[in-house]
Amino acid sequence: MSNNRVSRRQFLGYTLTGVGGFMAAGMLMPMVRFAVDPVLQQKGTGDFVLTDQRVEDITEEPVRVDFTFEQTDAWYVSEVTNSAWVYREGDILIALSPVCKHLGCTVNWAGDPEQPTQFYCPCHAGRYEKNGLNVPGTPPLGPLDQYAVEEQDGFVAIGAVGPNTLV
Ligand code: FES
Repeated sequence: MSNNRVSRRQFLGYTLTGVGGFMAAGMLMPMVRFAVDPVLQQKGTGDFVLTDQRVEDITEEPVRVDFTFEQTDAWYVSEVTNSAWVYREGDILIALSPVCKHLGCTVNWAGDPEQPTQFYCPCHAGRYEKNGLNVPGTPPLGPLDQYAVEEQDGFVAIGAVGPNTLV
C-alpha cells in the first residue's frame, strides 16, 4: 500500500483545474476555428460550373442560362443558383451578369418592348446595350459585369464574374 494519499484540498484543486480547463477549451475551440478556418479554405476561383445549355443552341440572341453551385460560408455549405445572359459573337461566347449596377435588380433581355435589342431593368427602367454598356440617361452608372465562359463537352460552363471587358 502506498502512503501517497490525496488530501481533500488537493482533490478539490485537481477537480477544479480539470473542470476549468475543460470549460476553457470549450470556449476557445470555436474562436480558434473561426480564426483559422478561412486560411484553410480552398479558393474556388478559376473553377467553371457546367450548365445544361448546349453551345450549339447559343445564337447572337442572349439567352438566360441558370447554373447551380455549392457555396461555403465558414463551415456552412449551401447550394446557390445564379444565372447569366449568354450569346455568341462569331466563335466567341459571351456571358453577362444579370445583376443591375444601379441597385441590384435582375435585368432581362428585350424586357422593354420599345427597346428589343437592349437589356432592361424593370425596377427603375435601367437600360444596357447588348455588350452590357449602360445607356446614358438611365439610372445604372456602370456596365453589367461579365462571366468567364467556356465550352465543356458541347455545353456552356460559367466561371468567375468580373468587370466587363467588352466596353
Ligand atoms: S435597380 Fe436596375 S435600374 Fe434601378
